[in-house]
Amino acid sequence: MTKQFDVIVIGAGPGGYIAAIRAAQLGFTVACIDEWKNAQGGPAPGGTCTNVGCIPSKALLQSSEHFEHAGHAFADHGIGLKDLSIDVAKMLARKDSVVKQNNDGILYLFKKNKVAFFHGRGAFAKATEQGCEVTVGAESLIGRHVVVATGSIARALPGAPFDESTILSNDGALRIGGVPKTLGLIGSGVIGLEMGSVWRRLGAQVTVLEALPTFLGAVDEQIAKEAHKSFTKQGLKIELGVKVGEVKAGAQGVDIAYTDAQGAAQTLAVDKLIVSIGRVPNTTGLNAEAVGLQLDERGAIVVDADCKTNLPNVWAVGDVVRGPMLAHKAEEEGVAVAERIAGQHGHVDFNLVPWVIYTSPEIAWVGQTEQQLKGAGRAYKAGSFPFMANGRARALGDTTGMVKMLADATTDEILGVHIVGPYASELIAEACVAMAFRASSEDIARICHAHPSLAESTKEAALAVDKRTLNF
Ligand code: FAD
Ligand code: NAI
Repeated sequence: MTKQFDVIVIGAGPGGYIAAIRAAQLGFTVACIDEWKNAQGGPAPGGTCTNVGCIPSKALLQSSEHFEHAGHAFADHGIGLKDLSIDVAKMLARKDSVVKQNNDGILYLFKKNKVAFFHGRGAFAKATEQGCEVTVGAESLIGRHVVVATGSIARALPGAPFDESTILSNDGALRIGGVPKTLGLIGSGVIGLEMGSVWRRLGAQVTVLEALPTFLGAVDEQIAKEAHKSFTKQGLKIELGVKVGEVKAGAQGVDIAYTDAQGAAQTLAVDKLIVSIGRVPNTTGLNAEAVGLQLDERGAIVVDADCKTNLPNVWAVGDVVRGPMLAHKAEEEGVAVAERIAGQHGHVDFNLVPWVIYTSPEIAWVGQTEQQLKGAGRAYKAGSFPFMANGRARALGDTTGMVKMLADATTDEILGVHIVGPYASELIAEACVAMAFRASSEDIARICHAHPSLAESTKEAALAVDKRTLNF
């Protein structure tokens, strides 16, 4: 028997499950379909983010950071440790339990909000008078509206498919069973730096091969330079401007042939190789052709600024559409689409989507970089404040990096905030709020910030825009 819903969401990653919950809050009958399976074959909603992305990577970053602190920083605090060791199996089991808590949390939220959850692959069948028909296994559902949130998958190097044993995607990278002696990474983007940091902290010799000649090209140059200095000092070997050639996996590991920035032929032999060269939109099995859903040449679903596809009442959000592949961007689009279905005016401001790289030091930013402002010919003022001059950072024992603020030269409106240093991931929220309210740097400079706190560095960076820092 066909089941009828106001809204069917395909995919229960951050884009899909949030869209489903918001639609249910708005009074719609909602179904959410997701095919992800846990190790027992049961449902594991939460998508890439929960299962093999944001959550497990942060769990491992935390474990490995504890290990690094115990090995290198505790002694400064007078804490002595003998026989420090890492039980990788236990660390991975903890990560898995953090993932499960999140899977279970989403199932609970579906129940609480009366979202009907279907475990299986959702595929378009046909368009009908009542809406699109979508099948999940033997079941048939009809939705007045359909929201596609099928996410993305890792891109493999041509000729070197993932085997998840020696050539790893993000999936395999999150479950390496023991610390490899040598680890190679292709791509010094977000995954490369985060996963490279995890395994370096645990003792692997890590080499990252990056095609572009500049390190973290999308990041503010000054911040990227500071981060590069830190990572190199930590022992992460980053080679820029390389051209990767043949990649051969064997019983002993992986051999990578490449040309370095000077044009010389090189080889790298590693125990494991993580390929992190970006992700591609995922529409596998969606049967988009059955209803004529339009995809672009990258395989992304074509949407307008409101996430409307070429089909009436079919929407798409998150990694499967244009824009940054970030969980919070997917969530914002999910909320906005549910609200638009309800006739409201959901809105996502791409300029206010923050980015965070959870390395040590953390890197976070929102808005425009200095190079973007220069490129656009916009007159701006810049102010920065080093954590070295912040009392809380000194007490933490982590004084790397800075907060940098960019403001319009005439109006003083904040145009971008860039942070490299401790808890940048948390500090960036103040900048997002300020920019959402179109604050000026003077607004931040005049707000009382708790002492001692890292956030005082944001206030000081705002003061620096007007060349009047108090503590530097
Ligand atoms: P996804 O999370 O990919 O979810 C899509 C879901 O749809 C999946 O469960 C999939 O199984 C399901 N699906 C697909 N097709 C079908 C179908 N036909 N039928 C039924 N189900 C289907 N972003 C951040 O913001 N912060 C981070 O710290 C961060 N860390 C990351 C770390 C790693 C290692 C990776 C790989 C990514 C990370 N990301 C991070 C990116 C983030 O995971 C994605 O941007 C986010 O998951 C996208 O959400 P989504 O809902 O669009 O898709
Ligand atoms: P990425 O786009 O961040 O980085 C890919 C890197 O690989 C780029 O620097 C690119 O120049 C390089 N590259 C591409 N092809 C190459 C080749 N053939 N040889 C060498 N280098 C090559 O992609 P990544 O790291 O795979 O992550 C995918 C996405 O997942 C990110 O863009 C981000 O959207 C999301 N993500 C977000 C995180 C966060 O928010 N903290 C953490 C991890 C992932």
